[in-house]
Amino acid sequence: MSEVSDVVATGPTSALQYVRLTVEMADAMAELELASFPTADPKDLYNAQELAVLATEFPEGSFIGFDSNDRDVPVAAGLGIRVNFDLDNPQHNLKEFVEASPTESGDDPDGLWYYGTDIVVRPEFRRRGIGKELYDLRKEVCRGMNLKGIVAGGVIPGYAQHKASMTADDYIVAVTAGELYDPTLSFQIENGFEAICALANYITDPEVDNWASLIVWHNAEYRAG
Ligand SMILES: CC(C)(COP(=O)(O)OP(=O)(O)OC[C@H]1O[C@@H](n2cnc3c(N)ncnc32)[C@H](O)[C@@H]1OP(=O)(O)O)[C@@H](O)C(=O)NCCC(=O)NCCS
Repeated sequence: MSEVSDVVATGPTSALQYVRLTVEMADAMAELELASFPTADPKDLYNAQELAVLATEFPEGSFIGFDSNDRDVPVAAGLGIRVNFDLDNPQHNLKEFVEASPTESGDDPDGLWYYGTDIVVRPEFRRRGIGKELYDLRKEVCRGMNLKGIVAGGVIPGYAQHKASMTADDYIVAVTAGELYDPTLSFQIENGFEAICALANYITDPEVDNWASLIVWHNAEYRAG
């Protein structure tokens, strides 16, 4: 059982208790990953060993939400690392960052962007504002550490129903315009993100022909220098 003092925030809507990722949470977090992405290729998800490394190298960037009655089973998580990201060359995948980084988790202490590596809410807890709370915590990390903003590759599960009739880029434009709804991208846009372009082969998911979207949130308080 963790001490109450490890709580960094209480969800204003959900009342979840948010704590930083610790090595001790790695196994339970790996289970949350599998429960949240049931159709994903497990090799695209964090495993317990990678989570333990992330907890050691950049705990400030990862938040885990617990129901106050159960500190053993995490309900939600927003994980991330610092990177340098070139918005003019957006095609990438996460593995490239991790391999190019000086650390095992991919966190670059000199990175100017927060890269959201994962955001998950247990299925039975969705649509209660927990995802928004996790994004708000990440935005606070950017403000507190003077980072340029948040960048991430986002899944676009709704593209599966449209891939026969439009490109992934056209789908992203239609979701951005509000003409189509995507369970993940629409939520990200509502949280202040801009969808920049489609990312090819970002994930292994034949349902969406391996497409994802590049999303960016700019920290208006960022100061250069
Ligand atoms: C994407 C994900 C993290 C969102 O988490 P969430 O906790 O459901 O997010 P929120 O509750 O803040 O918002 C989701 C939607 O519920 C709505 N909502 C929030 N509170 C609500 C309430 N009390 N009643 C009804 N709707 C509500 C939000 O407005 C939002 O609607 P939108 O999709 O039209 O924008 C979650 O669905 C998930 O884990 N998905 C699987 C993993 C995934 O895709 N992760 C993203 C990888 S890039």
